[in-house]
Amino acid sequence: MQDHEIAKAIELLSQDQVVGMPTETVYGLAARVDRPAGIENIFKTKERPFFDPLIVHVSDQTQLGNVVSSFSNMARSLAEKFWPGPLTMVLPKNAKLNPMITAGLETVGVRMPSHPTALELIRGVGVPLAAPSANKFGKTSPTTAAHVREEFKKENVFVLEGGESQIGIESTVLLVKESGGKNILSILRKGHVLKSDIEIYLKSKSIPFEFMDVVDKKESPGHLKHHYMPSVPFILCTDPAKAESELKKIINERLAELPEEIEEIKIVKPHGAVQKIEKLILAEEPLLAARSFYSQLRELAARKPDCILLYKLPSHSSERWESLYDRINKAASLVIK
Ligand code: TXA
Ligand code: MG
Repeated sequence: MQDHEIAKAIELLSQDQVVGMPTETVYGLAARVDRPAGIENIFKTKERPFFDPLIVHVSDQTQLGNVVSSFSNMARSLAEKFWPGPLTMVLPKNAKLNPMITAGLETVGVRMPSHPTALELIRGVGVPLAAPSANKFGKTSPTTAAHVREEFKKENVFVLEGGESQIGIESTVLLVKESGGKNILSILRKGHVLKSDIEIYLKSKSIPFEFMDVVDKKESPGHLKHHYMPSVPFILCTDPAKAESELKKIINERLAELPEEIEEIKIVKPHGAVQKIEKLILAEEPLLAARSFYSQLRELAARKPDCILLYKLPSHSSERWESLYDRINKAASLVIK
């Protein structure tokens, strides 16, 4: 990374501009946590509703001071193992942190990315950066600098070059709580760090914990039914034996019945009957499949087919595939069984 590129990004951030930042998961759209106008710019640029909280990125743990109100032993242990890396911990928020970042919640999502350019940028700024994925709200996440430039062409967003994001899907979001003297953990969003990775590690350290499903919707905002959607309809078919001709018929019937919008996300529908279909073929290995999924979605959508089709294979069933299929299900306008 050229020093002058980093210097330019630092300067823009100090002027309340948003900057495209590479991370190992997906590219982020960053602003300084201490610049309210910059934070507001993230929401404006992404066209993101204010109920959806942002993730705060730090380059070292000394930066957590004005972000969280406490960093429990559990959080410390998890950070020791999984930071820098694709684990976001949701922790009690510091009173000094701008409430717009946390959408008014009492908690804040925080992670230390492992991408060297992200770390260099945050270190250079000297203040944590809030950054959601650098895509318009509800759309496909970016895994290259070119994706971000294309997404925000009109807004002319400056993007730091950081190559292809190696993980390719967003971080695992883990709620870390203490209740009745117990460490309670809840996975709010699946990602590269698996529940089993966390379990194996904590057991190896003899740290007591309990996993609990989140029942209170307020604890898990921003988890809408649809997300990551490409610009043409994306169809998931979970029956690999279904022929394409039969599928076309079902797709046409079912797409016509879809609403225009679900939970503020516009559902992508075709203009006429579906003829031209582009098939998305995932890599056989789940980590590689995740790395290239968003990129494949963008490339296929750019060919302007009537829809993109993905068959779920029976082999796509281990825990490793779950985080990718979480994204696939949300990106799909339609799931055909
Ligand atoms: O890998 C990633 O996490 C990427 C890169 C750029 O770091 N960022 C990312 O941000 O995916 P975004 O805004 O696309 O997703 C953030 C999600 C929110 O939609 C919400 O679901 C969850 O993280 N989140 C953030 N703060 C939270 C909080 N205080 N409580 C519950 N969930 C929170
Ligand atoms: Mg996102």
